[in-house]
Amino acid sequence: MTTGKFITFEGGEGGGKSTQLALLAKALEDAGIEVLTTREPGGTPGAEDIRNLLVRGTVDRWPPVAEVLLHFAARVDHVEKSILPALESGVWVLCDRFTDSTLAYQGGGHGLGLQRIQALKEDILGDFQPDLTLILDVPVEEGLARAFGRAGTEDRYERMDLGFHTRIRDTFLTIAEAEPGRCAVVDATGTVDDVQRQICAAVSHRLGADLKTAGK
Ligand code: TMP
Repeated sequence: MTTGKFITFEGGEGGGKSTQLALLAKALEDAGIEVLTTREPGGTPGAEDIRNLLVRGTVDRWPPVAEVLLHFAARVDHVEKSILPALESGVWVLCDRFTDSTLAYQGGGHGLGLQRIQALKEDILGDFQPDLTLILDVPVEEGLARAFGRAGTEDRYERMDLGFHTRIRDTFLTIAEAEPGRCAVVDATGTVDDVQRQICAAVSHRLGADLKTAGK
């Protein structure tokens, strides 16, 4: 039985997930809720090692199916060693990306289709899923421009073509439409404060937390 809430942040490149995740963590902590912030791929030492294999190097470094398996290998380690123990002790977990990213990037972007990845997800994770998934949505060109503006070498996916990124956005929106009870689409084109207000409203409304945003 889990007692903490599991919130995932999803979306294409340059949607501001990391900034918004940190702001939500602060708002929850201010409301007296204990929070663990984490990310995928990554979140445990083993999963961070796998992350390095995935986010660096040439765009064609891995066949798409190998990418799926690497993402799930990292995810199992992360769920078993970090996410579940935290939730079971009552901590709320905020995770930057989760299985919806595999559906969007490998299923949609690489064209593997959603069914095989859903099947793998059910086989590996059973019915474990986020209580709330916030999908930060920005037009593809705008997101990529923001992402390329950041310094860093973890840019293997950012360097993939525009069609890849367009399919990712479309897949996230398809997932949100199919699962409105779990997913909330957030318009991430506004200011940091605008986006934070939308996120705090969604968390308050759907999970019953009483949150104060910077602008309140
Ligand atoms: P980040 O840039 O949000 O930290 O994520 C690292 C990259 O990994 C990002 O470009 C999306 C990609 N990714 C996938 O392709 N599939 C997945 O399942 C996950 C979790 C991330």
